[in-house]
Formats: sequence, C-alpha cells, structure tokens
Amino acid sequence: MSKLHVFDHPLILHKLTYIRDELTGTKEFRELVEEVAMLMAYEITRDLPLQETVVKTPVAEAKASVISGKKLGLVPILRAGLGMVDGVLKLIPAAKVGHIGLYRDPESLQPVEYYCKLPTDVHERDLIVIDPMLATGGSAAAAITFLKQRGVKNIKLMCLIAAPEGVARVQREHPDVDIYTAALDEKLNDHGYIVPGLGDAGDRLFGTK
Ligand code: URA
Repeated sequence: MSKLHVFDHPLILHKLTYIRDELTGTKEFRELVEEVAMLMAYEITRDLPLQETVVKTPVAEAKASVISGKKLGLVPILRAGLGMVDGVLKLIPAAKVGHIGLYRDPESLQPVEYYCKLPTDVHERDLIVIDPMLATGGSAAAAITFLKQRGVKNIKLMCLIAAPEGVARVQREHPDVDIYTAALDEKLNDHGYIVPGLGDAGDRLFGTK
C-alpha cells in the first residue's frame, strides 16, 4: 500500500490558509502556491541518494556529500499542475519537465490524453507527478498509468489538497505510488469540488474565473 504523507510544517499550513481564502487574488495565490510547492519539494526529496565526496575548505579537506545525480523529472498535469512547477524547480533546478493534458470523454467518462510531451529518457527517471487538487483521483491515476506504460518505474504524486476519494483511488490503482499533500480535506461535493478545498485551482492560478 502506498504511503500518504500529509504535511504538518507550520509554514506550509500558514500559507495554505491564505491559498484557501477566497479573498486572495491571483498574484498572491500564484506566489503562495509556488512557495508551498518549494517547501513540499524539500520533504519529498528527503530520500534522494547521496554520494561521498571531498571538498577543500579554506582550512582543510572535509568529507562531504552530494546528491548522487539520480535523474529526476516533474510531470505537471495541465493546467493547474503548472502552478507548482517553478517552486519545485527552485530546489531541483536540473529536473526535466514533461507535461500531460487529459480530458474526460463525455460518453465513456474515461480520461483521454490530449497532450503529452515527456523527456525522451523518461523511463530512466524518477518522476514527481504534480496534480494540485486530488479530487476523484481520475486524472492522477490515468496520468500515472500512461507514464507506467512508457516504462516509468518510480513515481511520487504531489498534491496541494487531497480528498479521501482521490487518495483511495490512487492507492487502489497504484499501490506503489506515495502521495504527498499539504492537506487532506473532508470530501467531494456534488460538482466534484473538494470541500472545503480552495475552489478551482486552475482558475485561481490563471485568473480565468
Ligand atoms: N479541481 C479543482 O481545481 N478544484 C477542486 O476542488 C477539484 C478539482
């Protein structure tokens, strides 16, 4: 069973409060989402492998560590996922970024991929899939399936707010994928919005409401 990591860092919780606030405007919303993504990236990368090295300080040689150069990739799900990418890249600037866009077929209700551009060596990379609002979990689960079909082995899912329904679906379909979220909310409403959530993340990020 995949692990669910819900963050409890005071800075993340503080910023999330203002992200949720309906009075927060587009500029501040965007900045706060980026900042929370950066703070979350710090924790999500906690298990990156290190290798030993030696560094010469002005005083003496010191045994030291550097990240071992494991290949990482970020895959935001369009469009709200874009809002968290720059925050993660502040801490992992060398990560490659792929994009996946999905829509729900109105008849079959199944997610259909309408856009997918990934690093050519995606199958060799550990990926962080970014879906800020894990609502039903349909898009995230489908995106992860598409990535696995392309040979990706190691995937983490990064969200801002998750609903129990979305967590359950991803854990059922992808028990190997750990989920990282800044908050686990109460439920989904009849329109598929997370309650209390923050509204439509894409609209609030891009000012399209
Ligand atoms: N997508 C959003 O942007 N908000 C929700 O509450 C659910 C899905």
